[in-house]
Amino acid sequence: MSATRKPMIAGNWKMHHTHLEAIQVVQKLSYRLDGDDYEAVEVVVCPAFTALRSVQTTIDSDRIPIALGAQNVYPEPQGAFTGEVSPGMLAKLNVSYVIVGHSERREILGDTDDLVARKLRAVLGAGMRPIVCCGETLDERESGAAEEKVAGQIRAAYHGLKAADAEQTVVAYEPIWAIGTGRNATPDDANTMCGLVRATLREIVGSVAEGIRVLYGGSVKPGNIAELMAEPEVDGGLVGGASLDPDDFARIVQYRRSK
Ligand code: 13P
Repeated sequence: MSATRKPMIAGNWKMHHTHLEAIQVVQKLSYRLDGDDYEAVEVVVCPAFTALRSVQTTIDSDRIPIALGAQNVYPEPQGAFTGEVSPGMLAKLNVSYVIVGHSERREILGDTDDLVARKLRAVLGAGMRPIVCCGETLDERESGAAEEKVAGQIRAAYHGLKAADAEQTVVAYEPIWAIGTGRNATPDDANTMCGLVRATLREIVGSVAEGIRVLYGGSVKPGNIAELMAEPEVDGGLVGGASLDPDDFARIVQYRRSK
């Protein structure tokens, strides 16, 4: 965590929670968080598409200062793309952040570096902010190829992007071997890799890289968030499993209290 970048804790609910469950989770979360929490940390929830509208109206009507995020988008304004959702559709729902390039989309659903780069630009074009995911597999880590993989993903996503656009983005470093496995990266490794992401961004977009938040994701829990956040290059967390439960997610947002 740095003095200049506001920490962000974002919950990626993946394919969990119906719209009814999602409303309950957001309401419970809001009962557990207070003004000091929102002051210290930007809190984001990324429900499934089917729950976005319900979460939006809950947040708006109860004036809950939680930002709304989506988990994916298609990089065209409209057209014959059955099953896809456009950037404009998300922006109309007051979506602020859109996750692009999550490893599950890259590995299971075939999102390529090129598609991720197009999604990133489409999100910016609709006035929202992308959360750009990167991360290596266990094989790549064990063979010493983690840095090359992650730097390559960042270069592919940001190549040619204007500094002013890059400034609007957030990156999430999520080692694939740490996702949903209960095995998180050590704070030191997370710091090294988030630092590598920032150094790569600096090469591409220059000094605005200092203001871009780089989150860590992969088995973030109430019990390990404080030590991860103590690292200077880790600006927050992208949380999967532990964000589904409002108690756990609130404790993660409140990591400063457990120090
Ligand atoms: P877990 O927190 O369940 O490991 O998931 C991390 C993740 O993929 C968030 O995008």
